[in-house]
Amino acid sequence: MPETVKRHLSELDLTGRSFLTIHDYSPAEVVSLLDLAVALKDAQRRRAPHAVLEGRAVAMIFMKTSTRTRMSFEVGIEQLGAQPMFLNANDIQLRVGETIKDTANVMSRYVDAIMIRTFAQADVEDLARYGQIPVINGLTDTHHPCQGMADAMTIREHVGKLDGARLVYIGDGNNVAHSLAEVGAKTGMHVVICTPEDYKPDAAIVARAQEDAQATGGTVELTSDVAAVEGADVIYTDTFTSMGQEAEHDVRVAALAAYQVNMDLVRRAGSQVKVMHCLPAHWGEEITEEVLYSPHSVVFDQAENRLHAQKAIMAAVIA
Ligand code: CP
Ligand code: NVA
Repeated sequence: MPETVKRHLSELDLTGRSFLTIHDYSPAEVVSLLDLAVALKDAQRRRAPHAVLEGRAVAMIFMKTSTRTRMSFEVGIEQLGAQPMFLNANDIQLRVGETIKDTANVMSRYVDAIMIRTFAQADVEDLARYGQIPVINGLTDTHHPCQGMADAMTIREHVGKLDGARLVYIGDGNNVAHSLAEVGAKTGMHVVICTPEDYKPDAAIVARAQEDAQATGGTVELTSDVAAVEGADVIYTDTFTSMGQEAEHDVRVAALAAYQVNMDLVRRAGSQVKVMHCLPAHWGEEITEEVLYSPHSVVFDQAENRLHAQKAIMAAVIA
């Protein structure tokens, strides 16, 4: 076991905690999780054994589709020495009426943690409340905290710091924007969320992040003016139509068209800017293929970091 993994793991006291939003974690806990993720990334790159969860099992419930979350959790669970169990919506009784309370109680008897991707944040909270094992939020309509952790790890790698980094999220004020505001607030970043008036992020989540940011010297601001990208360290975008909003696709694409991340916008930001996207991308809608494959783009490093960040979360919370 690499010394750095052991040391960072021993610094954390998160056993048994669920990971439902980044807001629930202190600035020191967020930074320690990122440090552990970096140590695990190094271990995995060197093929150094780091099976800290040997003999454990982790269930993964997917009520929505996924490429990255499913793959990175499944591979990550195996690399930590545990058994992954993929449960598609159609495979389990939850979909056809079994309650969250009963599901939580039963699953707690078989596995050591549950990762869930679903619609309502309240369902994820209920799963954690009624079960006896940690629950990890793999995306809801309002939060994507594992993404936010991988994003912070990527910003630290590519910008060289989090404290004082200027991140401009542009497009739809969605789940990913919320988790970025939260991770930025916990790590001293200057987060600007740039959206049309009708597509702003949730006011309560933003207010809570602004309050959290006071402790770290960070800021969280809202604007509708794309000039906000000028001088940014990072421009970040996500789909204009999240899972569950498919019926609104055409309306959303029209309303958000002026917020597309294209080469004109990237040039306006400046030569220093990195471009991020949680993926999947919709070429020609929120981003162009040219930007995605430009030297500014760090999207594939970002996708890789899902693996390392989630391994850190699992290693820290699973008993
Ligand atoms: N970024 C992300 O969560 O991707 P998937 O929907 O493919 O899991
Ligand atoms: N905002 C997107 C993120 C996908 C990873 C969605 O919820 O569909």
